[in-house]
Amino acid sequence: MLKMKMFEITEKRKLNENMTWLVIYAPLVARKARPGQFIILRTDEYGERIPLTMAGHNEEDGTIDLIYATVGRTTMLMDQLEEGDCFADIVGPLGKPTHMEGLKKVCVVGGGSGNALAYPLATGMHKHGIEVDMITGFKNKDLVILEDEFRAGTDNLYMVTDDGSYGEKAFTTDKLKQLIEQGNKYDEVVAVGPPIMMKLVCKLAEEHGIPSVASLTAYMIDGSGMCGGCRCIIGGENKFVCVDGPEFDGSLVDWDELIQRSTYYADQEAEDRAHVCR
Ligand code: FES
Repeated sequence: MLKMKMFEITEKRKLNENMTWLVIYAPLVARKARPGQFIILRTDEYGERIPLTMAGHNEEDGTIDLIYATVGRTTMLMDQLEEGDCFADIVGPLGKPTHMEGLKKVCVVGGGSGNALAYPLATGMHKHGIEVDMITGFKNKDLVILEDEFRAGTDNLYMVTDDGSYGEKAFTTDKLKQLIEQGNKYDEVVAVGPPIMMKLVCKLAEEHGIPSVASLTAYMIDGSGMCGGCRCIIGGENKFVCVDGPEFDGSLVDWDELIQRSTYYADQEAEDRAHVCR
């Protein structure tokens, strides 16, 4: 590999209109990264810090993979960066790696852009020797991502869309219910996606006596348990997504609080987006 600058973008690939895959030179992060962990980055020294789950890493090349959806100010600025450009800083790996010990067969359920987070988790489990059924749900065909990668990196892939324009016309919960009722014995169901989908997936797993895990996302600032920005309530106790998570027992998550908290900054975010567009 040619000599790279620290945090340089070595590859950039559009997955669909809204989602992008980046490969970034970050050798110290790559050396310690494990599936399920995330980083916090800034585009420039005055930029906000945003957390992103690593989609993969290559210790030999010293690179990490990030997949992001263009949803806010920082990701809009990231869209403007090209191969050869550098991020101001990247901190990580952060958070606890995905728990895999003792699992034989799992079902991972990804919804929308959450499939980008589900990808390292599902393929990491598969590489670990766990049998992985993967359900990917999207609104429609145009939003589908990572089909080849999921097919190659899991045991069975079930693709559903809300409108039936690709794969089966179903919601992820319908597919999960069907797979459970067909007699699949899962040691765990893992949900990654919009909070409402994760809530319903975890509830369904619970109804069938299957342990569930939810991979949560949250607003973050320091990523070290100090600022309280990523607080969530698990089993009635305050926990921090950055240090206690990002994965939690789905049956213990206070979903209503989490859903309410995820909309706290909606107005400021809309203002920020408009600012970048001007
Ligand atoms: Fe500050 Fe988690 S990001 S406590």
